[in-house]
Amino acid sequence: MHMPPVVVKKRGVSVGRMVKANIVGVLLFMEILVSGYRFGVDGLSMNYYVLSCPMLEPIVRNTVSSALQADPTLAGALVRMHFHDCFIQSGGPVYDIPKGRKDGRRSKIEDTINLPFPTFNATELIRAFGQRGFNTQEMVALSGAHTLGVARCASFKSRLSDPADPSIDSEFVKTLSRTCGGGDNAEQPFDATRNDFDNLYFTALQRKAGVLFSDQTLFTSPKTKPIVNAYAFNQAMFFLDFQQAMIKMGMLDVKEGSKGEVRDNCRKIN
Ligand code: HEM
Repeated sequence: MHMPPVVVKKRGVSVGRMVKANIVGVLLFMEILVSGYRFGVDGLSMNYYVLSCPMLEPIVRNTVSSALQADPTLAGALVRMHFHDCFIQSGGPVYDIPKGRKDGRRSKIEDTINLPFPTFNATELIRAFGQRGFNTQEMVALSGAHTLGVARCASFKSRLSDPADPSIDSEFVKTLSRTCGGGDNAEQPFDATRNDFDNLYFTALQRKAGVLFSDQTLFTSPKTKPIVNAYAFNQAMFFLDFQQAMIKMGMLDVKEGSKGEVRDNCRKIN
């Protein structure tokens, strides 16, 4: 069977369905993704595989389900992959395709320059996301993906050098320093619940306990602070904004016809 590298949305749907026990938010937004695509948003059709591979969805769902049961940290990795897949490629025209989201035919490490850096301040983040058509609130909502997963010391250690970044809480500097005692690859969870999709990321920012500079800047900057406070206060509002922004992100740079392909091997272009 020709097993494509699974349209990201389909992969996401499976994740959402399967982790409902503990990642309610992921479930919620993935389900909304489904309904969005059922109605044919931007031509990305849920029926793409109906004839060519009708068993695709259960196969993917079961595969990802077992993988997540074995390792719940996969949820964060998948959400991050979705961001990088959609965000990296620039300049390419966006096509409405009735068939499904294809893989790009270009895969270059230098393109990752298009990703925002963890050293960005709020103004730079607003500009970077603005170039992809996201407003400030959508950018803050998407940053809330850091409710899942971890950052490695290498991504934040520059904040710890003398003088330490003044936007960090003095106790939290010690926590980060302890983590970095384990070397560049040592992992620091973004919030207290690394496998739960909740709004604790935003309450951490309020306590000046954001892990990346680009996280904490959202609370430091008056342009974004009210949004952080709103999400910290109202988790439902965060979930809704996140879902909508993720749907929008899934529509970035959709490839049509020969501009895209279905990879035989996910790791390399055909
Ligand atoms: C606002 C700009 C962003 C910056 C500067 C940024 C940067 C980073 C960095 C540096 C890490 C840690 C990498 C490491 O040390 O291994 C990370 C992890 C992560 N990012 Fe972002 N990111 C941003 C936005 C996003 C968005 C929009 C999403 C998804 C919608 C996302 C999802 C994730 C997830 C889930 C992880 C954890 C991955 C894991 O634990 O396996 N990030 N990000």
